[in-house]
Amino acid sequence: MKVSPLHLIGFLLLAGVLPIHAALIRRYKFVLTDTPYTRLCTNKSILVVNGQFPGPTLHATEGDTLVVDVQNRASENVTIHWHGVKQHRYPWSDGPVYITQCPIQPGSKFSQKIFLSNEIGTLWWHAHSDWSRATVHGAIVIYPRKKNNYPFRKPHAEVPIILGEWWNSDIQAVLTEFLDNGGDPNVSDAFLINGQPGDLYPCSRSDTFKLTVEYGKTYLIRSVTIVGSDASYTKQIRSDYIAISPGQTIDFLLKANQKPSHYYMAAHAYASAATYDNTTTTAIIEYRGNYTPPSSPLLPSLPTFNDINASVNFTGRLRSLGNKDYPVHVPKNVTNAFLFTISINLTPCPNDSCVGPYNERLLASVNNITFVQPTISILQAYYQHIRNIYGDDFPSHPPFAFNYTADFVPKALWRPQNGTEVRVLKYNSSVEIVFQGTNTVGGIDHPMHLHGHSFYVVGWGFGNFDKDNDPSNYNLVDPPLMNTIAVPINGWTTIRFQASNPGT
Ligand SMILES: *[C@@H]1O[C@H](CO)[C@@H](O)[C@H](O)[C@H]1NC(C)=O
Ligand SMILES: *[C@@H]1O[C@H](CO)[C@@H](O)[C@H](O)[C@H]1NC(C)=O
Ligand SMILES: *[C@@H]1O[C@H](CO)[C@@H](O)[C@H](O)[C@H]1NC(C)=O
Ligand SMILES: *[C@@H]1O[C@H](CO)[C@@H](O)[C@H](O)[C@H]1NC(C)=O
Ligand SMILES: *[C@@H]1O[C@H](CO)[C@@H](O)[C@H](O)[C@H]1NC(C)=O
Ligand SMILES: *[C@@H]1O[C@H](CO)[C@@H](O)[C@H](O)[C@H]1NC(C)=O
Ligand SMILES: *[C@@H]1O[C@H](CO)[C@@H](O)[C@H](O)[C@H]1NC(C)=O
Ligand SMILES: *[C@@H]1O[C@H](CO)[C@@H](O)[C@H](O)[C@H]1NC(C)=O
Ligand SMILES: *[C@@H]1O[C@H](CO)[C@@H](O)[C@H](O)[C@H]1NC(C)=O
Ligand SMILES: *[C@@H]1O[C@H](CO)[C@@H](O)[C@H](O)[C@H]1NC(C)=O
Ligand SMILES: *[C@@H]1O[C@H](CO)[C@@H](O)[C@H](O)[C@H]1NC(C)=O
Ligand SMILES: *[C@@H]1O[C@H](CO)[C@@H](O)[C@H](O)[C@H]1NC(C)=O
Repeated sequence: MKVSPLHLIGFLLLAGVLPIHAALIRRYKFVLTDTPYTRLCTNKSILVVNGQFPGPTLHATEGDTLVVDVQNRASENVTIHWHGVKQHRYPWSDGPVYITQCPIQPGSKFSQKIFLSNEIGTLWWHAHSDWSRATVHGAIVIYPRKKNNYPFRKPHAEVPIILGEWWNSDIQAVLTEFLDNGGDPNVSDAFLINGQPGDLYPCSRSDTFKLTVEYGKTYLIRSVTIVGSDASYTKQIRSDYIAISPGQTIDFLLKANQKPSHYYMAAHAYASAATYDNTTTTAIIEYRGNYTPPSSPLLPSLPTFNDINASVNFTGRLRSLGNKDYPVHVPKNVTNAFLFTISINLTPCPNDSCVGPYNERLLASVNNITFVQPTISILQAYYQHIRNIYGDDFPSHPPFAFNYTADFVPKALWRPQNGTEVRVLKYNSSVEIVFQGTNTVGGIDHPMHLHGHSFYVVGWGFGNFDKDNDPSNYNLVDPPLMNTIAVPINGWTTIRFQASNPGT
């Protein structure tokens, strides 16, 4: 990986008074290769960037521009997405396959420009085609423009922690298999902390990730999940656990105030679905100094797999910092209000050949539409006026109202429609979306992510959203600013944002 600041595009303000960083263009090179890796006693070839798993961390300062030259020397189509970067007026580099671009094919190159604006803290990048993101991902660390200006005491060190998932089988084979048979994908074989499963799994003791700390010091842990509030400061909350959903990032401070020894850091799944990987990944925090470490560190007690209270309680406590340096701009006058149901669906297969419930195929939908990927990117179709690639009829409300969170939803409502529909917004609209989970085929938590914008999470609740009573409880004072939010099982979540970034 090569980093070379090319030239200054900003000005040094108040030089000599406050150390203000001038915006830079930083250049990185990403080379994709199929590379052999061993985890859990299994050798296999995985798709990685620059031979690294997880991939390289990108370092930048607020407002910088990054240029990443992506070169595909591997055997499959791939695209890269900069998760949480708004990319103001530059959707061309956003990365989702067939939404903003065609894939980068084996043997070819694509140079991506990443325009940072007000993002600050930790984000991540990942492949946005098939399931390549399982191994093609890494952290993006964005420092404040005024050097060392944090709304908390400057930590002694900072450590990215990337939470990932490992399959012993080839990831594309897992994907192909479940697309063929219509059932659930096979669950993973391990969770990973910085690419390592930890010593509770076979063959991994020597590879376990270790964080060395010194008594009395504070460490900023930049945590990312793959499969991690989202480059925006929050009010400080204390917690002995963190609930993080796929795609989210959380920055937290660790005070090394315990008796010098070895301690476990551990993670497992919070699972609202029936089948899940029930294993636990670990890393070790090692204090510097002279002491006899325990033969086996104490394992922290994590919330149980199905502890929905632990999940919603943590997420529900997040608040924007919301002071004069970091103000909140939540839209108050909504111009477009949408209700989007999120469902799991079933559709029949020829000769009952699928392995989902009732021998049908599992699908998912929003407002009863299952997205059908086009073969020309929607952004290109829009700009070049290519017709019949997408329709603009995405409904603002569910086509049929029912008891979304009933224990049993009638089977007649389980079948979705297929479609490639978009919703067109006027520039600078103030948008509200209520995401309503449903219990068709089965209820589950749904992590929702928005490209091009961060959004304020103004409310959430269990049951069916009540348009007459729930809005009066919205937090329009200090709601958290996120790019990914988990809509709870049997519940709803409301987000608001200003649509001020043209693109798809
Ligand atoms: C994995 O590869 C290493 C060296 O590349 C080899 O020593 C080891 O025996 C292999 N393990 C398995 C399970 O094939
Ligand atoms: C790779 O992308 C090209 C261009 O969109 C497409 O024609 C081809 O079918 C893709 N290959 C695979 C294996 O998906
Ligand atoms: C998925 O799991 C099933 C049952 O354990 C196994 O037979 C199958 O080979 C697995 N598929 C892949 C792609 O690993
Ligand atoms: C985890 O799942 C496996 C296989 O599904 C099961 O055999 C095992 O008992 C489970 N372990 C725990 C701790 O629930
Ligand atoms: C969550 O909290 C509710 C109310 O406090 C309680 O009834 C329920 O049992 C809890 N659920 C779990 C899984 O702990
Ligand atoms: C969340 O947990 C804290 C600490 O256990 C508790 O005091 C608080 O009442 C809980 N809040 C909710 C909304 O459950
Ligand atoms: C709210 O927005 C509508 C539509 O744009 C506009 O007509 C109205 O004046 C706005 N109200 C306030 C209080 O800004
Ligand atoms: C379904 O089964 C019938 C009778 O066994 C067979 O003729 C037909 O080819 C099958 N269709 C498909 C799509 O597999
Ligand atoms: C919807 O279903 C839930 C769960 O069965 C039930 O508690 C609730 O009363 C139902 N709501 C309506 C409006 O029927
Ligand atoms: C979704 O659309 C299908 C096809 O029109 C219909 O059969 C089904 O009832 C609809 N489901 C819901 C929840 O609107
Ligand atoms: C929708 O797409 C799925 C998956 O490709 C297919 O099995 C199903 O038949 C389609 N449904 C309709 C109504 O066309
Ligand atoms: C967009 O809307 C915001 C808030 O309503 C307003 O402050 C801003 O001036 C608008 N920008 C443009 C370019 O219309």
